[in-house]
Amino acid sequence: MRAYRAAVLRFADNREPHDSAILERDGLLVVGPNAAGVQVVQAVGPYRDLKDAFPHLVPEHLPGRIIAPGFVDLHVHYPQTDVMGSPAEGLLPWLENYTFPEEKRFSAPEYCAQAATFFIAELLRNGVTTALTFATSHPESVNALFGQAQAASMRLITGKCLQDRHSPDGVRDATEQSLMDTEALIQKWHGRGRLGYAITPRFAPSCSPAQLRGAGELAARYPDVWIQSHVAENKDEVRWARELFPQSRSYLATYADFGLMRERAIYAHCIHLDDADRALMRDTGAAAAVCPGSNLFLGSGFFDYVAADRAGFKYGLGSDVGAGTSFSPFHTMRAAYCVGREGQTKAGVSLSPQQLWWQHTAGAARSLGLDGALGRPAVGNLQPGCEADFVVLNPQATPLLARRTARAASLDELLFAMIVLGDDRLVEKTVISQAF
Ligand code: GUN
Ligand code: ZN
Repeated sequence: MRAYRAAVLRFADNREPHDSAILERDGLLVVGPNAAGVQVVQAVGPYRDLKDAFPHLVPEHLPGRIIAPGFVDLHVHYPQTDVMGSPAEGLLPWLENYTFPEEKRFSAPEYCAQAATFFIAELLRNGVTTALTFATSHPESVNALFGQAQAASMRLITGKCLQDRHSPDGVRDATEQSLMDTEALIQKWHGRGRLGYAITPRFAPSCSPAQLRGAGELAARYPDVWIQSHVAENKDEVRWARELFPQSRSYLATYADFGLMRERAIYAHCIHLDDADRALMRDTGAAAAVCPGSNLFLGSGFFDYVAADRAGFKYGLGSDVGAGTSFSPFHTMRAAYCVGREGQTKAGVSLSPQQLWWQHTAGAARSLGLDGALGRPAVGNLQPGCEADFVVLNPQATPLLARRTARAASLDELLFAMIVLGDDRLVEKTVISQAF
């Protein structure tokens, strides 16, 4: 067992998105294996109350630091690191001019390996300990990323993109083969250590009905495998999806019609939805990956937080690198705040710092079904029994952070100062407990 003495941030509840953050100013976090050998939080609370319960443990003392749950990135593309900051007239030209040409290069295993190595290191440097990420259509790209994540003992979910049409040579796959490759990758990687597979139709416009049908059949056959895709990001994309699947009630409903909406299905963006779509999200148990950094960069639109909460479906935050402009969860939380202020409706909302933080930790984990369901340890929180991945934050990392956080008169003010002024410099250390 290991113990850490510092300020400790956690949420009272894994499942409820209400403001339930607790900051133990002089806290103790004790980590050790559960009966299944998973490194979990054994105890957490005030140092003065807990220290005598663990007389043989010498805690690592981290004065002035804050231990917080590792961040969960609910939507990111590992092959797109090198297209970050590529300007375009919206989503579809961006895909055609930058993204697909770069993704073609992932047919080469060596190219995949160096990109995967950099990507995992960059996630960890930014405090991200769990990620749901796209690979490319090449199975090699999936093998490379799983290999790197396994070496880091990181919790990572990925999958081979399915895209058998409207995609250029070099990234377009073949319907039958793509489904066979998907099943082989599920059998090879899903549930191995902390790795999980996601069936990954890129988006409906890039998939034939036969490919979507096959993906839905796999989703039914492997119910604890994840599903990830994109939906309703951009108005031209929505129009195109409606032309291609006119028999479905809406773009989102296309996925439901092929059996691709259920628990553990994560749809990125969900901007241009109507209330019937939102009810479909709720009723199927699917979740949205809200990607405000990407949406601002590509000019896609604004996620409607008010309508989402009225409908009551699950969502969490994703960077969507490379349309997203930063790996930093602080940048994504700040962008989410700005998107909330703008709103889709006349009156924007001010998302509270605790809500923003929850959406990028326990809330994102809940969207993935990693909230302690079925007696498995929860992710994205530091309550007893949770998986013990965490970050060590230094609120004095920059002169401005030091000056501003010293003035914070409440937990909300402290969290908000870090959200607005923070970046990778705030993350002093990222601890994957399973790696010890
Ligand atoms: N829709 C289909 N593919 C992509 C992608 O790579 N990025 C984004 N942002 N949207 C997509
Ligand atoms: Zn994306």
